[in-house]
Amino acid sequence: MGNGKLLHGGDYNPEQWLKSPDILKRDLELMRKARVNLVTLGVFSWSMLEPEEGKYDLDWLGEIIDNLYAQGIMVDLATPSGAKPAWLAQKYPEVQRVGADRVRELYGNRHSHCYTSPVYREKVRAIDQALARRFRVHPGIVMWHVSNELGGECHCELCQAKFREWLKEKYATLDRLNEAWNSAFWSHIYSDWSQIESPAPHGEGAMHGLVLDWKRFVTSRTLDFYRMERDAVRELMPEAKFTVNMMYRFDGLDYAKFAPELDIISWDDYPTWHKAGESDEDICLKSAMMHDFFYSLKGKPFWMMESSPSMTNWQPVSKVKKPGVQMLSGLNAVAHGADAVMYFQWRQSRGAVEKFHGAVVGHDGREDSRVFCETAELGKALEQLAPLAGVPREREAAIVHDQESKWAMEGSQGPRNIGLGYWDEVMLHYRALQKNAVTVDFIGQDGDLSGYKLIVCPMLYMLREDFAEKLRGFVAKGGTLVLTYWSGVADETDLCRLGDTPFGLTDVLGLRRLEIDGMYEGEKRRCVSAVAGERAEAYGSVLCEVAKSETAKPILVYAEDFFKGAPAVCVNRYGRGRAYYLASRFEPDFYSGLYRGLASSLFDLPITTPLPDGVLPARRGDWLFLQNTSGRTATVMRRRLQPYGTLIVNLKTKEKLIF
Ligand code: GLA
Ligand code: GLA
Repeated sequence: MGNGKLLHGGDYNPEQWLKSPDILKRDLELMRKARVNLVTLGVFSWSMLEPEEGKYDLDWLGEIIDNLYAQGIMVDLATPSGAKPAWLAQKYPEVQRVGADRVRELYGNRHSHCYTSPVYREKVRAIDQALARRFRVHPGIVMWHVSNELGGECHCELCQAKFREWLKEKYATLDRLNEAWNSAFWSHIYSDWSQIESPAPHGEGAMHGLVLDWKRFVTSRTLDFYRMERDAVRELMPEAKFTVNMMYRFDGLDYAKFAPELDIISWDDYPTWHKAGESDEDICLKSAMMHDFFYSLKGKPFWMMESSPSMTNWQPVSKVKKPGVQMLSGLNAVAHGADAVMYFQWRQSRGAVEKFHGAVVGHDGREDSRVFCETAELGKALEQLAPLAGVPREREAAIVHDQESKWAMEGSQGPRNIGLGYWDEVMLHYRALQKNAVTVDFIGQDGDLSGYKLIVCPMLYMLREDFAEKLRGFVAKGGTLVLTYWSGVADETDLCRLGDTPFGLTDVLGLRRLEIDGMYEGEKRRCVSAVAGERAEAYGSVLCEVAKSETAKPILVYAEDFFKGAPAVCVNRYGRGRAYYLASRFEPDFYSGLYRGLASSLFDLPITTPLPDGVLPARRGDWLFLQNTSGRTATVMRRRLQPYGTLIVNLKTKEKLIF
């Protein structure tokens, strides 16, 4: 797809400038200067492409695609379903989404369609096919960008009917459904399918199994809509490739279900650089973690489909990227497996909601602006780094992330309704591994564990039987497992496991759970070394589990209250491997220590000496990236790194590049 190049470009929305041919011409010149080789076109063009029902005007788009192609710029062509024309909503009110409160939305904004409505599907299919028919032979179209940032749910009658159908297919009988949802509680037994309604603020919310199934259904409906669009294009263009742009820590969909149906994973990255109270290192790690998450969805290079070249306009406070941060963040994406660095948007809008959102070309239209110059510089660097295109990452450690488990855990009432801080927990493990230059993947319970030496399960509340079995095999054969509190609690419909827990793993861990205690914000429980005389210490927070160790060897024990003496951290030998159990959430230093030890014993690390503060490592194939996320100069491998500078070392050839 990249033809051996790293891709560089962004969302190009020329429909805003059709009356200014001079601007469109200038865009081409500026794109050449910024070394742009890919643009996303047509995301929000529907009302220009079909100004009246059934009357298509694709000529203007054709001319733009031709002009781009003439200077070697490829196109990621969008289907316009994310934002519909006003005439469509006016003529067919059923295309508008209905909220959980059962109120139908008025026309406005975007991403507000019902994904079940047959009329909407028919209209989307028709415009998608008009585009495919016209552009299928164009050599410039390298990718189809289906819709935009899929998300949201619809509660209209059409969707309710589909939900019931989906449930019928899943459970076959009402008996099974009632069983799976434990609906005998509070007398919620359903005696007819038509009684079932989606969750609502003024209706059902207490039936955890129902709420969880609704979330699964929303994913399946959204995926079904995606498939409809993909197939509409594919019918006319069998070799077409497809992507959808995904979002940061998005909770509304189970992205893992989309991965097999996409040719490339792409996502939109908008970090809150220079945020008060948070270091740029931590901000960078949050993006890096998502890059790794998205790489892992297919275990293949991905595209960073959008990012702001300067500020966003929707965060509480919009900060510009300081000098050098554009390069830092672009190269960070590449280090973690991106083959494309793209922006939203190419040219800043004059009006409407995103007129103050950062863009490569600002309202002044100048090529000597700081943003444009830094973008062009990054374009040059990406050309230099072409050998990285398509290069895969090592398989070393994997963190288990299961969206359904997260939904179930967070949808449950108790043990800590003020928040479980799932991503904070994940970040503690990720950060410590990443800072030791360990390559971290994210896998779900369908994931393949082969090749990994370390598997981390943070709060794997809903642990499936088949996955517990996989973990047992993994440890028995010599793998290292780290599993935390609040794992192995419930089954796939959120029914609690009966008997000893963590479900399926008590012998692997050499212990069983007795109780779990919720902690107030700021409340801490002291833990000390299990070996008398040793000074190690840590503090448990958020949730503190009490377990009874059978064969597990305690490393840290609780030192307070009636918890005193219970294992806080322990390790158990099982087969040829080891399983660590963490009974609580500790401070970052604890994880640094734990993973420094594990990383040096399990992996052949590309760096073994500590890096200066703020310098982050990342490895992609033979290339080691060392990035200075601090505003100060830093020295690494005898090279001086400017604030936000990057050193790239080829571990085989020893070649060094500095940006
Ligand atoms: C009330 C209700 C019970 C139960 C408890 C839980 O007392 O009557 O049904 O919900 O709260 O604390
Ligand atoms: C998202 C959308 C874009 C734009 C940007 C702004 O990523 O996909 O259309 O609104 O946010 O940050």
